[in-house]
This record gives sequence, C-alpha cells and structure tokens, in this order.
Amino acid sequence: MTSIDLGRHPRGNGFLLPEEVENEFFFHLTVGMCDACTMVQLQSEVPQEIRYHDAYPYHASGSAVHRRHFEQNARHFLDTELTGPDPFIVEIGSNDGVMLATIAQAGVRHLGVEPSKEVAEMSMAKGVRVLSEFFDESTAGKILFEHGPADVVFGANCIAHIAHLASVFRGVETLLAPNGVFVFEEPYLGSVVGQVAFDMIYDEHSFYFAVRSVQAMAARFDLELVNVEPLALHGGTMRYTIARPSMRTPTPAVGEWLAKEKESRLGEKKTLERFGVSVERIRDDLNALLRKIHAEGGRVVGYGAPAKAATVTNYCGIGPDLVPFVCDSTPSKQGRLVAGSHIPVRSPEEFRADYPEYALLFAWNHAEEIMANEKEFRERGGRWILYVPDVHIV
Ligand code: TMP
Repeated sequence: MTSIDLGRHPRGNGFLLPEEVENEFFFHLTVGMCDACTMVQLQSEVPQEIRYHDAYPYHASGSAVHRRHFEQNARHFLDTELTGPDPFIVEIGSNDGVMLATIAQAGVRHLGVEPSKEVAEMSMAKGVRVLSEFFDESTAGKILFEHGPADVVFGANCIAHIAHLASVFRGVETLLAPNGVFVFEEPYLGSVVGQVAFDMIYDEHSFYFAVRSVQAMAARFDLELVNVEPLALHGGTMRYTIARPSMRTPTPAVGEWLAKEKESRLGEKKTLERFGVSVERIRDDLNALLRKIHAEGGRVVGYGAPAKAATVTNYCGIGPDLVPFVCDSTPSKQGRLVAGSHIPVRSPEEFRADYPEYALLFAWNHAEEIMANEKEFRERGGRWILYVPDVHIV
C-alpha cells in the first residue's frame, strides 16, 4: 500500500467553540492506495457518530449552483427512472433535502436516510420523508420490508464518506428493484490528483473514487457499473450509475474513462507519490507567501470555511497570526473556530465592512459564485489567493 502522510489533524467539520479547544479530537491523517484494486482510502477511521452528529454543520443548500444542480437531478429522475406505477426513490445522506424536496413536491414516493438530526429536520420542513439513521445492510432490509424495492438509490457527496462501504453495497444490492439503479456523485480521484486538491483529504472522505476502483467495488457485490458522467461540482466530480448485472448496457463512457485512467496512470503508485511531492510544495509556497504578506503589513482574510480549510490550515501551519479570521455564509459555523488551527469564523458582512488586501479562498470549488458575489472586493483592489493546483494570486 502506497501512502501519503498529512500528520495530525482534527475533524474537518469539527468547528468548535473557544471553550471546547482543550478537549479537541485529533487523529493521524494518512491516505493509501490498495495495490490490488487501486481504491484510494483513509488509513484511519474517525467513528461515524463523531462525524455525523445531530448538529452536523454542512448544509448542501448553501450554494445556488448546488441547489440548481440537485433540482435538475430530481427532475431527471422524475423523467427517466421514476415513471412506472408508484415509483420509489431512496437518498442516502439526504442532508437538508436539497434534492428530495423536488421529488416530494412531485408527490413521488421517497425516503431520505439522514443520521444528522438538524439537517434531517430542515428537510422535513420541506415536506421530505426522512429516516434518521445511518444507511447500511440492516437499514436497507428495514426499508425493503416497509416500502418495497427502490427504483433509484441515490447519494451525493456521501457514499465516499461511509467507511463501512461493503455494508452499503450489500444494502443497495438488497434494496434495488430488478431494473433499479444506484446513482452516486463523489469528488473524482482524477480531479483531486490532477489539481493537487489535497484539501479534499479529511476525516469524512473515507474513499477517493475512480472509475476503475468503483467498477471493481460494484463487481464484488454482484452489481455492474453502467455509466459514468463527469460533473464540474466540488472541483471535479464523477457521477456513477450502477445496476444489476446484464440489466443495462454499459455506455461507451465507462470504457472511455477506464482507458483515460490507464493512460494517465491514475491507479499507479508513482502517481500518488508525485501527488505527495506537489502537496509539500504547495504547503511551503503558501506558508512563504502568507509570511511575506504579513511581514510587509498586508492583511489576509480566509473566504469560506469548508472542511477543506481544516486540512490546509493544519497541514500548512496557518493560524490566526497569519489569517485572523475566515468568513462563511453558514450561520452554524459563525462564532466558532476552524478545527485545529482555531481561526475564528465570521460572517461575510465582516469581510465586506473592512476589505483586506488579500482573501485566501478556501472554498475554491465555489470560486465563480463567490467571486461574482464579491465583485466589489476586487474592484477596490483586493486580490484572491488560490492554492490549487499551485499557489497563485488573481
Ligand atoms: P464546500 O466546499 O464543502 O461546499 O463548502 C463551501 C463553504 O463555503 C460552505 O461552508 C459555505 C461557504 N460559502 C460561502 O461562504 N459563500 C458562498 O457564496 C458559497 C457558495 C459558499
């Protein structure tokens, strides 16, 4: 197993109050590639109850681009897979109901499976039916017993978060109707490696999927990968469609992406090792740039407090001395500290009230939306610092 060691880290979404600093949870963050099936995965596991607690702070509806995307997803399912008599869709990790709200409005049978209470309640307020549990083999059995087989099992930015992936696949295999599909969208390993997006590595991302490793995973559970579609979300996402064997004809895209991965040597040890070297270069360059700006009396404020910010700040040794605060539009993060590095999270209004010279864009995957919203910052001479695929100022 080839591995990359990012050192001691807190939970990516472990935003904490100042009085909680003393009891903060840390673990060793390393990622490795399986020599046999090329699956890239975390080598240590943070218990899921610690990660997906009742006050889990990530709200999928926080971005207008994401809201549009998930509404389109729902409409696509309504037009294609959910057209039979009394169709049924299950979403694993339905979060705040960003996708299922459209299905609920259409009056189609659905069930969200969402263990985190606050986001589950937000989706219920949108008319979404939710089972507040972790999805696994036994949950799948219960759903099958109560509701019957599912025409679609969906998951977005969730399946790769589940360390007990084998139990998820066994559950899907149990729950899926004979011609049903299991569709999931997850950050793509090829994009993570290609953009040196090392900040995608944190406790919640148990797996870093590629077409080859997902195909191998599906086959292990008597399922077949029948389609793949690249999406621009989260800096490069892949949407996988899995069906029961021989029920659907695989699209040419599957073979094309397998060939691309082979050509780019994505599943090879050397590629991961090269990625590790680039990550160290980014750490050194970012640290040097922030120290230079600081020494020259410039001010840098962080923009966006995604879980990724915990990886970058902790790995690069960036604290409130270099970045006095980060701003984020999520109310549940404001007033708390970024895990480990303890940089305070404030509202975007504070950023606008007194523009700094530089904004370090932690939410770089939302660059277009954020830069459009913050046009004035740039017009007034402000500059954005980005660190993927290398450290640069725009
Ligand atoms: P994500 O990269 O995991 O989707 O998280 C993005 C974070 O950035 C999330 O905490 C919300 C925040 N954000 C803003 O503060 N302003 C924005 O305009 C957008 C799109 C996101």
